[in-house]
Amino acid sequence: MDRTFVLIKPDGIQRGLAGEVISRLEAKGLKLVGARFFLATEAQVMEQYREHIGKPFFPHLKRYIMSGPVLAMVWEGKDAVPVVRRLVGATNPAEAAPGTIRGDLALDTGRNVIHASDSPASAAREAAIYFAEADLISYPRIDEPVLYEWVG
Ligand code: RTP
Ligand code: MG
Repeated sequence: MDRTFVLIKPDGIQRGLAGEVISRLEAKGLKLVGARFFLATEAQVMEQYREHIGKPFFPHLKRYIMSGPVLAMVWEGKDAVPVVRRLVGATNPAEAAPGTIRGDLALDTGRNVIHASDSPASAAREAAIYFAEADLISYPRIDEPVLYEWVG
């Protein structure tokens, strides 16, 4: 089963959207296997977004992610990485499709509510910034026999 890393950014927390975002992921059938609520450190943000270090928007991105508490989570399910990226929508919420989290809930690229990993390798690297392996809990979700054709 695949895992992806998701982080509700400070605007998502401040706007009271954490429940809405979690509901969408839960309703899709994805399984929450880890969660932490905290203030991200500069070192954590620089590691999470290391491919963007040096870009003009990076100082703004770093200040934004450190501006308030975030909710980091690991979600598990079939094709979790591409499935969650599609649920999240395009980086610029003005261009994100209606029905996506960013398309429905945000307006500005610099305040786009949520981060989701863009590949399984990124997901593993990013989850390891915030979680020890022992923090991630494997358990059956009670609806898995009806959620997946191959279970049960
Ligand atoms: P994320 O990593 O947060 O899930 O977003 P993403 O893959 O859709 O987009 P990415 O290119 O990785 O950009 C990371 C985040 O940096 C901010 N950003 N600002 N002002 C700008 O031009 C700009 N470009 C990117 C956004 O918060 C974006 O989600
Ligand atoms: Mg990205």
